[in-house]
Amino acid sequence: MRRLILPMPGNEALAAALARACDGETGRVETRRFPDGESYVRLHGDPAGRPVDLVCTLARPDPGFLALVFAADAARELGAREVTLVAPYLAYMRQDIRFLPGECVSSRSFARLLSASVDRLVAVDPHLHRHPALSAIYSIPTTTLQAAPLLADWIAAHVDAPLVVGPDEESEQWAGAIAARIGAPHVVLRKTRLGDREVRIDVPDLSPWRDRTPVLVDDIASSGRTLAEAARGLEAQGLPRAECVVVHALLADGAFEELAPRFARITSTDSVPHPSNRIALAPLLADALRRDLRD
Ligand code: R5P
Repeated sequence: MRRLILPMPGNEALAAALARACDGETGRVETRRFPDGESYVRLHGDPAGRPVDLVCTLARPDPGFLALVFAADAARELGAREVTLVAPYLAYMRQDIRFLPGECVSSRSFARLLSASVDRLVAVDPHLHRHPALSAIYSIPTTTLQAAPLLADWIAAHVDAPLVVGPDEESEQWAGAIAARIGAPHVVLRKTRLGDREVRIDVPDLSPWRDRTPVLVDDIASSGRTLAEAARGLEAQGLPRAECVVVHALLADGAFEELAPRFARITSTDSVPHPSNRIALAPLLADALRRDLRD
């Protein structure tokens, strides 16, 4: 039976692209607020006996999270064979330990909540740092997709003589993979986080690379401070104006405006809808869904 692809509000474009790519049928999730602020959810499309894909990027997840849980419950109660959450951006992965006494390890709590609501999860480059894999915290089957090859191919097609730059040690995994795929050199800077919106970046001597275009790559741009400080460090060494390519452009209020003048271009995947989106994820996600279908 054809997959039923249900976009949560704001995810319609990606859902339509997915439906085209895997011959699914799109339905609709109607949501509104009751006068007292509680969430109303109604599914349009018949889930009975079919695999259902709820498409919902989880950038700024809190306001819509209950509606997502309600939609998943409704699909199950209405007979869906399996409910998959397609979350190109998976939230709450960065609080992966108790940094300060008394803190909630929200990555674990969020994983427990989602694992109770859907049967399967597909995500693109979830921020895996201290958790080795999603299976360490999710109790449902998960599929982790890598956007690095797409980023690499975009850089190869649009940037001459790139030098791939990771702004911190955590970005080594992306910077290294991208550089290897396009046969470019890469370097990784050192970051010290001083607060939610404050970081210090130490840049090694990059004088051997002055004839290259630096391309800063990262998984997430949130406050934008990491990329801004890294760009400042590259400028200080006299390198040409940098390109910036990220997977998830969360870009909190004002971050894009602050970053844009520092870069020749800021490019992102469409995991989070944003004017910087230039790299489409639908083919990667559709492949994963088609694989699941064959299994
Ligand atoms: C961090 O560990 C991630 O890889 C990103 O570097 C980080 O989330 C970026 O955050 P911000 O834009 O707030 O500096």
